[in-house]
Amino acid sequence: MRRILVTSALPYANGQIHLGHLVETIQTDIWVRFQKLHGNECFYFCADDTHGTPVMIRARQEGITPETLVARMHAEHLGDFQGFHIGFDNYYTTNSEENRLLSEEVYLNNRAAGNIRVSTVRQAFCAQDNMFLPDRFIRGICPTCGAEDQYGDACEVCSGSHSPLDLKQPRCAICGNPPVERDSEHFFFRLTAFEAFLKGWIRSGALQPEMANKLDEWFEAGLQDWDISRDGPYFGFEIPDAPGKYFYVWLDAPIGYMASTWEWCKRNGRDFDAIWRRDDQMEVYHFIGKDILYFHTLFWPATLKGAGFRVPTSVFTHGFLTVNGQKMSKSRGTFITARQYLEHLDPEYLRYYYAAKLTARVDDLDLNLDDFILRVNSDLVGKVVNIASRSAGFIQKRFGGNLAEHYPEDGGLHAQFVTAGEEIAQLYEAREFSKAMRAIMTLADLANRFVEAKAPWNLAKDPDRDRELADTCTVAINLFRILMIYLQPVLPQLALKCQEFLRLPPFTWESRREPMHHQAIGEFTHLMARVDPKKVEALVQLAAPATPSAPAVPKSKAAPPPPAPTPSPAPADSSPPLDIDTFSQVDLRVARILSAAPVEGADKLLQLTLDLGDLGQKTVFAGIRSAYDPQTLPGRLTVVVANLKPRKMRFGVSEGMVLAAGSGGNELFLLSPDLGATPGMRIR
Ligand code: MSP
Ligand code: ZN
Repeated sequence: MRRILVTSALPYANGQIHLGHLVETIQTDIWVRFQKLHGNECFYFCADDTHGTPVMIRARQEGITPETLVARMHAEHLGDFQGFHIGFDNYYTTNSEENRLLSEEVYLNNRAAGNIRVSTVRQAFCAQDNMFLPDRFIRGICPTCGAEDQYGDACEVCSGSHSPLDLKQPRCAICGNPPVERDSEHFFFRLTAFEAFLKGWIRSGALQPEMANKLDEWFEAGLQDWDISRDGPYFGFEIPDAPGKYFYVWLDAPIGYMASTWEWCKRNGRDFDAIWRRDDQMEVYHFIGKDILYFHTLFWPATLKGAGFRVPTSVFTHGFLTVNGQKMSKSRGTFITARQYLEHLDPEYLRYYYAAKLTARVDDLDLNLDDFILRVNSDLVGKVVNIASRSAGFIQKRFGGNLAEHYPEDGGLHAQFVTAGEEIAQLYEAREFSKAMRAIMTLADLANRFVEAKAPWNLAKDPDRDRELADTCTVAINLFRILMIYLQPVLPQLALKCQEFLRLPPFTWESRREPMHHQAIGEFTHLMARVDPKKVEALVQLAAPATPSAPAVPKSKAAPPPPAPTPSPAPADSSPPLDIDTFSQVDLRVARILSAAPVEGADKLLQLTLDLGDLGQKTVFAGIRSAYDPQTLPGRLTVVVANLKPRKMRFGVSEGMVLAAGSGGNELFLLSPDLGATPGMRIR
């Protein structure tokens, strides 16, 4: 059994959790849950990153203490993460006694080892606010391109970086007055002394190759000592023997990983020293975004090393989230907070979607909202849940919930599913979640093909084939169970529901091997609903800033004001354009034709029995007999309007409509989706 400590980067306490943060916490959580499921001892620690000027200023603006602000944010953040089923073993705060003690120790040990030096620094100072101004709190004209209102350290227009002292017409971002220059003593960590150590650490295989290359660039450019102090007023820890000087937030932030561990150790009777002061007890991994690589692969291992603590085993870096191909943006409604998402959609949709896109590389990850709907509906609802929903009902109705006495002959499917677990485990371990999801969905396809070939809905019609029906459904339920074990790291909630429905103890990776038979399962409950595109739309609306409401009538028309505040309908044109909302009320689905039969007394019609996956079966009378021999139809996929009001006809009730192209004559062309679509898939 391995012992593994895992962290996600500590979110800043001055902002809300958004879908970008969740790329990281979901990635980490999947990996941690996989480790636990696979039988390793694994702990997941995180915290809020509370210190620094932004928190201090914001608290001042709200008229509260920074402590009050960070306590409120901590509760919010934790609630958001719990909403997404992030299973931290501890979610602590950097503004804690543990963190103060550890930060002092890291500093004092480094000082004793000669790794700290003092230098005088000339800096912008606001006399009005009586404080030194961090780069981000100075605004002015970019010295390179002349763009106005740029930050002190970088220009968003020309992307150049500069020193705040070079900014033209600089102003304090808090009060607007021009700052003055003032000297101050600062403490520097001698990063330069750690070059050889860092190169060795990187060569030990601690980093993804692309990141190791990035670091080589930094080495070539030359390392520089790191300013770890800030002048008060500053929300942070005061530096020992240096009144009025504080640790720069990035010094104590990663130490927050240790503080979170320590606080947890105290509550759980575990030995902190064995974890962080020796390196032979645990593996330590940090999951981070690419923007904070420098801090985690240079400063952090070097400060640890210099202070006599262990260094991380590895740092896993991911890329940035884009939404619909672009940087998250408030004006486009794609800057979506965790809270907003949770108000509209199931967290496991996002967990699955991210998993389906995450790799071990540092590439950015795009959340394409149309693709999101499609992917979740087709994979999770259409493929996975579908297997259970098509077989559990028969077990329940026909066999009192009992699976077959013995696990039936299944052509080697179960064995194949079990074996695939080895590769899937390796993919999880290597953080190749996208490949793992693909491997799992390939198995789901096999299971569905098995069910379709056996067609339990046909077996159910023949009382002589009861045994075959029970066997088929038993195999299907077993394959479904293995899939849910494989998906548990991604979909812990769904996995839990399945455990309950199958009346099983908690899954382990090993438990996949033993098939279920001669035992009863529970009532099949609705496991997962489809993503409702309307809710996705509503989420985007919610995330977009409120725009001033449009005038009720177009200006060009001198019409009387509408009687009610609701928008008036469009003028009655000869063919009014259909708005998207109206169109999306039409529930178009992929359906598989299970059977097709002529209808006596109606020579244009065929009676079709359709499988709509999750939506069950429907009977439809379709006027396609002139073009199709009924014997050729069973098995093929087509497109059906699923929410048409049932129509009573002379020969029975038609519960939908299949779509076909044609010019009105006898020539007809049934629509069908491309290869890969499955019954029940929504068409948009
Ligand atoms: N407080 C620091 C981390 C200190 S760790 C000792 C910080 N906080 S953050 O809130 O800005 O970001 C937290 C994590 O979320 C970082 O790893 C960051 O890369 C990640 N992300 C923030 N926005 C992101 C996206 N849009 N996309 C993907 N990850 C992003 O940095
Ligand atoms: Zn000022």
